[in-house]
Amino acid sequence: MITVVGSINMDLVVSTDRVPKRGETLIGKNFQTNPGGKGANQAVAAARLGNTTNMVGHVGTDEFGTSLLDNLKEENIETTYVKRKEGPSGIANITVADGDNSIIMIPGANFHWDGNEWEQYEDLIAQSDVLVLQLEIPLEVVEAFAEMANKVGTTTILNPAPAQPLPTSLTRNADFITPNETECKEIFGMGAGEAVSQFPNKLIVTEGEKGAVYHDGTSLVRIPGFPVKALDTTGAGDTFNGALAVAIAEGQDLNKAVSFANAAASFSVQHPGAQSGMPDRKAVLERLDDVK
Ligand code: RIB
Ligand code: NA
Repeated sequence: MITVVGSINMDLVVSTDRVPKRGETLIGKNFQTNPGGKGANQAVAAARLGNTTNMVGHVGTDEFGTSLLDNLKEENIETTYVKRKEGPSGIANITVADGDNSIIMIPGANFHWDGNEWEQYEDLIAQSDVLVLQLEIPLEVVEAFAEMANKVGTTTILNPAPAQPLPTSLTRNADFITPNETECKEIFGMGAGEAVSQFPNKLIVTEGEKGAVYHDGTSLVRIPGFPVKALDTTGAGDTFNGALAVAIAEGQDLNKAVSFANAAASFSVQHPGAQSGMPDRKAVLERLDDVK
């Protein structure tokens, strides 16, 4: 069983040929509202791959909150632990141009954590095989969950996105930390190769279609990706993390788990939006088989 604690957003997605210059008005190509949020996306990825998945997080009392909850239920995610907080849901303003994206997130309900609200989830965390965290909820909440998981012996994956400085307790309590190359530089001040050697078997840096790299204590391990034509990279990192959680929960070794996650992520970039391209288990296994 996997528990994801994190953000649930409505994504407001604009596609355009190019990003506007300062002060410029552009006529773009398309507009869509899609369920998103790094936490929810990672939960959807895990659930589609067949693992029992719980979501812990907050939506608002607006209409977005209702449809975000409905979406999680449709994806067979346990939503008992998704609370509605007075006010707006989180949103992400996403611009897709040239197959790549830029995002402004407004946290809304994701940031409404009262006092020691997290304490009520200790049993849930203890019963979970893997806890998945990102950084779109307050940092002290992320820290508290990682500490709790460490205490009860549950494996934690921290996807440190969006990048921000990590308190040492968080780096210590997380079993796996999964930045992309940009986030790795921002957080650790080092390139992937150097950074992973400081955190063997813990830091896994994703490198887009090149795959991912970690250090096994003896040497660098590069797990190749599955190059495909990128239509929309939104959600690729989230697919990687949800799939990694599934593989780790199943007890796969790190090498196999990262390869499984790479294969899953490669589907995500072939489809628009964060969640629509997330694969089921059969599709991932077939893609893994193709390269054997
Ligand atoms: O990782 C992609 C996600 O980041 C989007 O769904 C958006 O909500 C932002 O949180
Ligand atoms: Na996508």
